[in-house]
Amino acid sequence: MGQSTAKITDEMAKTVTEQRLGFLASVSPDGAPNLSPKGTFVVVDGSTLAYAELRSPNTLRNIAANPRVEVNFVDSFARKGCRFKGKARFVGKDDVAFSGLRPHFDGWGDLADRMSGIVVIDVETALSVTSPAYDLGQTEEELRAQWTENFRRMQPGGEFRGN
Ligand SMILES: Cc1cc2nc3c(=O)[nH]c(=O)nc-3n(C[C@H](O)[C@H](O)[C@H](O)COP(=O)(O)O)c2cc1C
Repeated sequence: MGQSTAKITDEMAKTVTEQRLGFLASVSPDGAPNLSPKGTFVVVDGSTLAYAELRSPNTLRNIAANPRVEVNFVDSFARKGCRFKGKARFVGKDDVAFSGLRPHFDGWGDLADRMSGIVVIDVETALSVTSPAYDLGQTEEELRAQWTENFRRMQPGGEFRGN
């Protein structure tokens, strides 16, 4: 769908699909960064991401004037993720492209029904990102075990003590 040749690798697509939650930065009219979470991200194809517009008025306003965005995804257990830079556009329900995109959100029930449209991101740059913990020689298996335990302790009644 996108015009670019940026490659969303299979590993990146897995992260986006599993996590769904990406932090999207857009540029405000005064040049200030605007960062907000979107928990409905899907991979449309090898160079296109999309999320459901539910209540993100500032992002919508920003991309209408300046489509440049960055969105990051992190697997909090594996301590790795991906960064995508590109251009975003809003596809409203009456847009011809909407019916082709809407099936990506099927099965999400009431939440998807509430969307006013879909924001599509044509990805121009796709990068992997890893925690510096890997620089210390820690393995993904070790980090997953450590953070699975940390998240368990973060649950109500748990005993989270930080690192
Ligand atoms: C976990 C989480 C997931 C969210 N997912 C979405 C989403 O998919 N779509 C959306 O429009 N808003 C979503 N929101 C709500 C927006 O982030 C929130 O309304 C924010 O204030 C919008 O800011 P903005 O207008 O600067 O983008 C989510 C919020 C959280 C905490």
